Amino acid sequence: MNTYPFLLVLHLFAAFVFVGTVTFEVLFLEPVQKRLPADVRKALGGQLGPRVRAVVPWAVLVLYLAGLGMAWQYRSALASPGSSSFGLLLSIKIALASSVLVHVVVAMTLARRQRLHSALRRRVHISVFCHMVGIVLLAKTMFHLSW
Ligand code: HEM
Repeated sequence: MNTYPFLLVLHLFAAFVFVGTVTFEVLFLEPVQKRLPADVRKALGGQLGPRVRAVVPWAVLVLYLAGLGMAWQYRSALASPGSSSFGLLLSIKIALASSVLVHVVVAMTLARRQRLHSALRRRVHISVFCHMVGIVLLAKTMFHLSW
């Protein structure tokens, strides 16, 4: 049985949960939160935080496992990324995705130690958002761009 289409659908659904959450935080939640009274902001954070922590790690797990499963089929292109445009673009996409994972792990560690203050959290969100723009762009162009 060919598992690739199944992995692709899982990857796509998990991507929209993860990318959607980060996009919502950066474009809507953070700018609006600034204008809310401190007690409302605290109550919102208190409700949203646990919900995000309950859902997003599962989406991230599915996203990366499905991604790895699909990437296995392109292992020869990935073994020599310099020899094809597809191999190079997929390698850059995976490097950006690895950097996103590092951001997530560092942010979660700092949050657990109560050291993820709001300015740093905003910077992490913007950085992850920019990475995701690149990842989605590469995901959709790597099959079409060639040189
Ligand atoms: C933040 C992490 C990631 C995001 C947001 C992301 C997002 C996406 C998106 C939106 C697609 C296009 C799916 C479609 O056209 O239906 C895609 C395709 C793909 N991704 Fe990811 N991805 C991530 C991580 C990874 C990782 C870690 C790997 C591999 C190790 C990977 C491997 C692939 C492959 C091989 C495809 C091509 C699938 C195809 O169209 O045949 N991705 N990714």
